[in-house]
Amino acid sequence: MRTSPLLIAFALVFAVVDVPFVGHASDENKVEVFSWWTSGGEAAALDALFSVFERQDPGVQIVNAAVAGGGGSAARSVLQTRLAGGTPPDTWQTHPGSELRGQYVEPGFCEPITDLYKSNGWDTAFPKELVLSLMTEDRQIYAVLAGIHRGNVLWYNARLLEKNGIKVGDRMTFDQFFAACDKLKAAGIPALGVGDSGVWASAQLFENTLLGVVGTKSWLDLFSGAMQWDDPKVKEAIKLFGKMQDYVNADHAALSWDQAIKALIEGKVAFSSMGDWADGEFLKANLKEKVDFGWICHPGTDGVFIIIADGFTLAKNAPHKEAALAWLKSIGSKEAQEAFNPIKGSIPARTDVDRSKFDAYHQWSMDSFAKDKPVPSCVHGEAAPAAFQQALNDAVTLFLVDRDVDRFANALVRAARGFPARNP
Ligand code: BGC
Repeated sequence: MRTSPLLIAFALVFAVVDVPFVGHASDENKVEVFSWWTSGGEAAALDALFSVFERQDPGVQIVNAAVAGGGGSAARSVLQTRLAGGTPPDTWQTHPGSELRGQYVEPGFCEPITDLYKSNGWDTAFPKELVLSLMTEDRQIYAVLAGIHRGNVLWYNARLLEKNGIKVGDRMTFDQFFAACDKLKAAGIPALGVGDSGVWASAQLFENTLLGVVGTKSWLDLFSGAMQWDDPKVKEAIKLFGKMQDYVNADHAALSWDQAIKALIEGKVAFSSMGDWADGEFLKANLKEKVDFGWICHPGTDGVFIIIADGFTLAKNAPHKEAALAWLKSIGSKEAQEAFNPIKGSIPARTDVDRSKFDAYHQWSMDSFAKDKPVPSCVHGEAAPAAFQQALNDAVTLFLVDRDVDRFANALVRAARGFPARNP
């Protein structure tokens, strides 16, 4: 095909003149997006959101204000400083539930976006329960979800397990898990990969183990105050969490969560208990599902889905409100949800997406979300106030050193005295 002379002329003009195009828009026409999506898989997924937005709203400059540190371990305090100082980003990543309400809505840092739900038909496109129970305050809705992660997943290096004669079915009990760990240990392989340079990754291993021991009802009771944190069942979970430490990679404190997943990919460790943003790293590394890596529920947690959802807010006095609203509208679109989630490892929050666009892991997670019991995560801010989340991190840090089960439980009892103000 011949290129037309007109096109060539346009190309020359654009090459010479600094034409205002995407990325060169005027100062007014931009949106600052704050998140902590900086690992390989996370950044690729964020880019996919940006691309959809650029297609839907050409001419708006995106300012990517991501702050590195998994789980928002560094980003959330940077954000608080900006919010308190009156210099908010236009929109930021948030977990619904306690985090959204307690840290952003109640102190008055967010504007409701209820109108977006009405004007875009989102009332029916998003799961009503989730929106109502986790993102609504005084009948106003404060965030739109980009996707929903599953927290309680046990990932494994399929080739490494096969090489060591370990078979994984579609579920694993704690006993089976520890038997596999012993076999790997005998072969000189650290069974469990952890990267807790941000301590939340170990807290998440504890959270998953706690759910595996106490079950759904007790989980909800712990966060509503109906069950105490020094209950024998909680102590049993702490003991199991302690036992797991004997199989963890020696360099865990030097690694981030994604470096631990990299160690799994490279066959240096066999398992990792991590939210399904880990899937984003497998995809980024071009690994084949069920051939190179596999997954099951964290032991004992079959039938339960720990929800770790990612939403975006609208800042009160957003410097670029119109562009921020356009960004939120874009995130809630089917196009964005279908572009972002297959890369991020999460499932779309919208229920009307084209399932054929998703791989086997996502199909598994979507099925689980549809039939299993959903519970909120504490480590990712949904189930309890920030002070409790921090107390859990501190208790885990100390426990990794002293292995004192009673001290761990008592620290949580003390921390829980300040809540619940209400159920998540
Ligand atoms: C977020 C995920 C993110 C993970 C690791 C979680 O808190 O919900 O989107 O990928 O942290 O950074």
